[in-house]
Amino acid sequence: MSEKSKSPFSNRFFIEKASEHEGQEVTVHGWVYQKRASGKNLRFLVVRDGTGLLQCVLFRGECEETAMDAFDQATQESSVIVTGRLKKEPRSPGGFELSAKSVQVVSVSEAYPISPKDHGVEFLMEHRHLWIRSSVQWAALRVRSEIIRSIHTFFQDRGFVHFDAPILTGSSCEGTSTLFQTQYFDEKAFLTQSGQLYGEVGAMAFGKIYVFGPTFRAEKSKTRKHLTEFWMVEPEMAFANLDDAMDLGEELITTIVKSVLDRCARELVTLGRDPLMLEKISSPFPRISYDEAIKILDRRGVGMPWGEDFGAPHETALGEEFGKPVYVHHMPAQIKAFYFKRTPDEKYALGADLIAPDGYGEIIGGGQREDSVDNLIKRIDEHGLKREDYNWYLDLRRYGSVPHSGFGLGIERTVAWMTGVSHVRETIPFPRMLNMLKP
Ligand code: 4AD
Ligand code: MG
Repeated sequence: MSEKSKSPFSNRFFIEKASEHEGQEVTVHGWVYQKRASGKNLRFLVVRDGTGLLQCVLFRGECEETAMDAFDQATQESSVIVTGRLKKEPRSPGGFELSAKSVQVVSVSEAYPISPKDHGVEFLMEHRHLWIRSSVQWAALRVRSEIIRSIHTFFQDRGFVHFDAPILTGSSCEGTSTLFQTQYFDEKAFLTQSGQLYGEVGAMAFGKIYVFGPTFRAEKSKTRKHLTEFWMVEPEMAFANLDDAMDLGEELITTIVKSVLDRCARELVTLGRDPLMLEKISSPFPRISYDEAIKILDRRGVGMPWGEDFGAPHETALGEEFGKPVYVHHMPAQIKAFYFKRTPDEKYALGADLIAPDGYGEIIGGGQREDSVDNLIKRIDEHGLKREDYNWYLDLRRYGSVPHSGFGLGIERTVAWMTGVSHVRETIPFPRMLNMLKP
């Protein structure tokens, strides 16, 4: 960062950069995480500033006298400004310690509702606006931020244009049973389930694009993988087939894993996530057909009838079989959305889902799109959708249709898998689920 920058933030000390300031006097702006007194003269104040934790040591006689009073005043989560000299201290969290000179309390916190003792998840969720300050939540959301950064870089580096799809739409993408409906002046509108149909428009204009935004599904299921509002990144490529979509997804996942390992080592420690679990995620990912998957599931004792969608036990078993993400492609056409291209006998959809290991389930869904206008009209009718809602979408097949493909990667499931947190509700700042609209 430039020394000449006028922004006060660019020159401010942050705990994550402590190693660059060893031996210097610095000022940390943050909140009291913990405090502890030892005898008459020694006080420890652990401060968090959002980038890390720093233990500040107050020694009577060496710090200003007001600092000792400020220590007494400062309750858990009180906001404070502490100045002192930074020393290496391997026994401290973060490896550094501050010999405090002055402590200023900006605002004394009322009795903080979240203590280190075990609270129930319901209580914590009601206090989500405070809970995210706790170290595990903090770490998971920082990994989320890194994953999103890495996704943008991945696509921008490869010349994909970032293309925004609308949130309010007039047509469904993933079936009508999970639509959130809202009034749009005199008509009905829906919250988007997926940006894909608009992404296809973008692919025909720019060749390769990615949509990145929130998507909505009125999921009544209470599982650890379902939110009603979740984020998806959806690349779409013109002149591309099913294999191209699988190749791109595989490269994306291995790139994200590497970024998390390279840039979130501290967070993984806080989360108790063994980096080995991620280090072993390397190309190539196994690719099996739905029919092969059915045989594997049979052999593993979790057989299911042909023509049904996988449930959690099936996804878990496939994860165990391979120990890394596995693509399942060529699903029965009858269980897939209207827009999939099919095999010539119409039995299979040219789709591929990527199943994450360790029971995290499907993280990618996508495939090749129907590119014939006649077939697409037939499917729209078969699915009971209204042709007039899709005229614009059909135009893509009327004016220079090409084979094209893409996929959607669910951000929350990806974060859950990489961080090892068991429920997607902890991978987004404010999860929306059945019965959860506040805060
Ligand atoms: O498989 P899905 O439904 O695919 C689509 O929406 C396509 N239109 C995407 C495309 O081809 N452009 O959803 C894609 C991914 C899933 O694999 C999963 O990771 C995530 O979105 N997802 C959810 N995540 C959290 N909560 C939910 N209710 C989710 N539903 C899907
Ligand atoms: Mg899917």
